[in-house]
Amino acid sequence: MNTMCAAYLFTMLQMNGSQSMMSPVGAASQSITTLAWIVFGVFIAVSVLMWVLITWVAVRRRGTLNDAPPPESPGGQSWILVGGLMIPLVILTVLFILNLNVMAGFPIHSDSDPPPEIQVIGHQWWWEVQYVAGPVSEHFSTANEIHIPVGRDVDIGLTSTDVIHSFWIPRINGKEDLVPGQPNMIRIRADQPGTYRGQCAEYCGAQHAHMIILVVAQTPDEYDAWLAHQRLPATEPSSDEAKQGEQVFLTGACALCHAIRGTDAAGGIAPDLTHMASRQGLAANTLANDTANLEAWVTHAQSLKPNVIMPNLTQYTGVQLRDLVAYLQQLN
Ligand code: CUA
Repeated sequence: MNTMCAAYLFTMLQMNGSQSMMSPVGAASQSITTLAWIVFGVFIAVSVLMWVLITWVAVRRRGTLNDAPPPESPGGQSWILVGGLMIPLVILTVLFILNLNVMAGFPIHSDSDPPPEIQVIGHQWWWEVQYVAGPVSEHFSTANEIHIPVGRDVDIGLTSTDVIHSFWIPRINGKEDLVPGQPNMIRIRADQPGTYRGQCAEYCGAQHAHMIILVVAQTPDEYDAWLAHQRLPATEPSSDEAKQGEQVFLTGACALCHAIRGTDAAGGIAPDLTHMASRQGLAANTLANDTANLEAWVTHAQSLKPNVIMPNLTQYTGVQLRDLVAYLQQLN
């Protein structure tokens, strides 16, 4: 039964390609996947051996107590010594050494390397992503979506403002924690273009399960174009709706927490919305970034993601809400 469950689990992991550690796209995740298959193979071998022995015990010919009285001398300890002690000791020792070898093979950031290009800061319950390469005028902040160039190492600094979170993009890297007051670093690399889903991997409160991050690996040209666009200030609203929506944003609650570069909104405690329409998800990728979800998120964040800092903004009229959403949706 264990064997069947494990086989089923592994099949499921392979099918869910977007977040499966069994479909690696980089050297670090590849080494973890190889180790996982070795562990799986050993698990299967031990399970088969167990079932053979159990079957043998169940069906072997037995005499009666008269034919074969219980032996006076103690026997059978060798089964316990070999099966219960030596075999597990050998297997666990070999797997432990292989495990250490995989961990030692992870690329790390050394003091002589340039500082990380990207800082990821964990919040309950979203990911702040700061691009900090080059002059300060080129730095910018985004959220819940990291873009990287394909085929190149990218160093990321990891920290947290509140509790411990864990950065895990199963197809790219192993887990690394974001710890308040303890800057960590990770070097990631994706060798195929694509969007790779990750999930906070350390329990961090009520909405831990809704703390999703996407890594988008792009060709160098696409990546440079993305960087150049993200560095720009927000698009000026052109339609009447969007212009009115901008006023709703700037004069209401939104600007107290959110920043939009190029406007007076400079709140620093919630995701930077300068290019929010270019992002794939809302609410740390809990929801697709579309009109219905955006309206629902603005007015009923507490129903969609209870305990999140974003309040229910139910004070707007229907027209104000429509204008606000029109404004946000042209921030591409
Ligand atoms: Cu953040 Cu779990």
